[in-house]
Amino acid sequence: MAYKIAIIVGSLRRDSLNRKVARSICALRNDNLDCSMIEIGDLPLYNQDLDGDPPVQWVRFRQEVAAADGVLFVSPEYNRGIPGALKNAIDVGSRPYGQSVFDKKPGAIVTASPGSIGGFGSNHQIRQASVFLNMPMMLQPEAYLGHVTDDSFDESGCLKDGPLKDLITVLAHAFSGWVETILRSRQLLAEDSAHAAQAKEAEPA
Ligand SMILES: Cc1cc2nc3c(=O)[nH]c(=O)nc-3n(C[C@H](O)[C@H](O)[C@H](O)COP(=O)(O)O)c2cc1C
Repeated sequence: MAYKIAIIVGSLRRDSLNRKVARSICALRNDNLDCSMIEIGDLPLYNQDLDGDPPVQWVRFRQEVAAADGVLFVSPEYNRGIPGALKNAIDVGSRPYGQSVFDKKPGAIVTASPGSIGGFGSNHQIRQASVFLNMPMMLQPEAYLGHVTDDSFDESGCLKDGPLKDLITVLAHAFSGWVETILRSRQLLAEDSAHAAQAKEAEPA
């Protein structure tokens, strides 16, 4: 079975390197991942005053993430941190309090940059947010894709054969296993709780 994966790209740039990396992951198609890119460029800035009557773009974004089995973040680093558009999307999805669409969703992070450290700072800020979001985030392989340029991609906009493509292929495979593990664990825990509740009900008064 293929898992539905929401890919959230942290760049709004038309020719974004990160969007091309995301497209390359979608194009692998052999790892039980049914990927869709979730757009974030139209999301109004998060404002708690609007929680009672949320903008349609927030509703659309929340529904798309909620429908996914897992979330893959693919993002650049801006000034050693998360780009504002991505942070806004994370904030929008995390609210209203207690109704976060990220809660318990398995996730993974890829960051790409022409620079040498591959968006390490941004990668770890997303990871830091995922702790509060209660998202079980895949640990390995880490993916800080450095020295990524337009030359890293072929005419179809996908990564050329080489170490970067090898890494995202391994990552996609690992992510499919990670999503399966987390969803199965959640199911087993739910079954355990149901059995425990039944056993309690059956106890003599
Ligand atoms: C506002 C801004 C801040 C940036 N800060 C960093 C940075 O901290 N580290 C880095 O490696 N690259 C940085 N860059 C360069 C980006 O990695 C580069 O523009 C990259 O192509 C952006 O990703 P994209 O192609 O997916 O849009 C920055 C670019 C911008 C526009």
